[in-house]
Amino acid sequence: MKSPFVYGKVVTGNSFINRTEEIARLTGNFQNYLNSILISPRRWGKSSLVRKAATVVNTSNSNIRFCFLDMFRIRTEEEFYKRYAIEIIKSTSGKLDEWIENVKNFMGRLSPSFSFGTDPANDFQLSFDLSSRELDVEEILNLPEKIAIKKKIHILVCIDEFQNIGNYKDALEFQKLLRSVWQYHHNTSYCLYGSKRHMMMELFEKQSMPFYKFGDILFLQKIKKRHFIEFITDSFSKTGKSINKNYSENLVDRVETHPYYIQQLAHIVWVNTTGNVTEDILEESVNELIEQNTILYQQILNELSYTQINFLIALSRSETSFNSAEVLQKYALGTSGNVTKIKKVLINKEIVDITNGSIFFLDPAFRLWLLKMF
Ligand SMILES: Nc1ncnc2c1ncn2[C@@H]1O[C@H](COP(=O)(O)OP(=O)(O)OP(=O)(O)O)[C@@H](O)[C@H]1O
Ligand SMILES: [Mg+2]
Repeated sequence: MKSPFVYGKVVTGNSFINRTEEIARLTGNFQNYLNSILISPRRWGKSSLVRKAATVVNTSNSNIRFCFLDMFRIRTEEEFYKRYAIEIIKSTSGKLDEWIENVKNFMGRLSPSFSFGTDPANDFQLSFDLSSRELDVEEILNLPEKIAIKKKIHILVCIDEFQNIGNYKDALEFQKLLRSVWQYHHNTSYCLYGSKRHMMMELFEKQSMPFYKFGDILFLQKIKKRHFIEFITDSFSKTGKSINKNYSENLVDRVETHPYYIQQLAHIVWVNTTGNVTEDILEESVNELIEQNTILYQQILNELSYTQINFLIALSRSETSFNSAEVLQKYALGTSGNVTKIKKVLINKEIVDITNGSIFFLDPAFRLWLLKMF
């Protein structure tokens, strides 16, 4: 039988749990043509949430077309424009001949040429020369708006890992251009999301930046524990196995209610269980989870100084008073000024983060690994 737990992929259908409030807020924004910005640490469920909200909107309103673009692998402006044009065309036209038609109608001036992949009915590449730059790129940025007006639809452009534009050459100029064009769009709205909280906040919350006050900013919260506990117990029983509520809760706690790791750990426990989950199975599965990541964690440590590692060890053991002489001495952290610097470095490296004044590991399995190793 297939495991009921899914990780590392966008979750849909029955595998998608809860997030009712966030869905309501996003669908509300989508339907009112407001721009949204969604920020959360890695693997908390941004991509799944946006897809889910899009599906919900489309069940009652087919006039809104969603276009998804992932900037994860897009490293230059040039690449951005190409992918952007392709995704806009694909998401607004049904079939191959309609794509070609639309490219001709809406991008004719750029004299684009087509090339097709192994599956021409579903995939194509566009190439065009961005020579008379300014006009051309604006033409591409205006593409969704032009199509939306012509087809009497509304287009919602969803851009994942948006913070990547902060790394482009002339990043600020690029942002200024996007904002200056997008602000005149009335038939296109934007949902921009990303996982590097500090970079996202720099883009959207800093007054001097072009995207300041661009839309409704949502900071994704973790899904409540009880939804996961219920989901795990149900998923086991639906597949002929069983886990009691205590173990289910323990499983969720071990990975600090981190959605990705809950699903991964639940999957390992499920594979290791034939009938009922036992304490031994749970422990063994936690170890497996940690071991799978060992190489990655060793690499992270290789790039840190001894005091930074000592700080992480202290944090993994739930030390909190980093200014007390006792903790500073016990973990050889130097002065409390030093601790401030260490925190800054670790936050920049996206190993830890601070919310509501408390510092925590972004990757709860890394904490478990440190506890085991030291
Ligand atoms: N609502 C949910 N219900 C169940 N599982 C979820 C949910 N949201 C996230 N997950 C779990 O977390 C994993 C990561 O989800 P997703 O890819 O949507 O997150 P993300 O924030 O976009 O991640 P990344 O930072 O890697 O882009 C999923 O594969 C799934 O295991
Ligand atoms: Mg994602």
